[in-house]
Amino acid sequence: MFKKLLEWSKDAYIDLPWRRDRTVYKTLVSEIMLQQTTVGTVQNHFERFLKIYPDVHALSKTSEEEICVAWKGLGYYRRARNLRKAAIDIVENYDGKIPGNYEDLITITGVGEYTANAILSIGQNKNALAIDANIERVVSRIYGIQGKKGPKLQKLLKKKFEEGEFREINKCGGREINEALMDLGRIYCQARSANCLGCPVKKKCIAGNAKDPLEYPEIPVK
Ligand code: ADE
Repeated sequence: MFKKLLEWSKDAYIDLPWRRDRTVYKTLVSEIMLQQTTVGTVQNHFERFLKIYPDVHALSKTSEEEICVAWKGLGYYRRARNLRKAAIDIVENYDGKIPGNYEDLITITGVGEYTANAILSIGQNKNALAIDANIERVVSRIYGIQGKKGPKLQKLLKKKFEEGEFREINKCGGREINEALMDLGRIYCQARSANCLGCPVKKKCIAGNAKDPLEYPEIPVK
């Protein structure tokens, strides 16, 4: 079902600094930044931060004060302190290598369900779905699954995805599909406007074909 989406994503190639010369470390840092900060703002700070902390070892050796200075402009400074703790944990307990399985990742400070799945799929090209607000909205529209935003709906979406799409995705890994769905959510399939005409999955999208994409994931209170 996602062939057209992946083709679009390849053609569109949206250049973001954490997508260049990809490493799992870059994914860890960018995903922590992107938890509460927009792509535009993270784009302006990511490379400077990476110059100061080029790898997990550099990050593990810094102080709380120093990392908070380097985090300037990104807000929610608790994430910076957590990222430092994560780096110390990874150096001390994982030989400096970011774990490649969900069970270990989820124990790392500052890494929740979304970030663990993003590190697996985007960082390591494994078969996982990292459901952020964009993916929650896009996938609920494609499958026509309504519900209140949050864990219950996300579980349903994941199940639906696993039943169908994962078999396909298994062949090429999870990176492309996660990023394509995120990009689709930012470019065509926004919360308050859906440009279905230009959308690469318009033929398959249940909400788009019913002409009511804005009713998903929740029916808005009028
Ligand atoms: N939002 C969160 N992670 C992202 C990524 N890897 N690319 C684009 N937007 C994102």
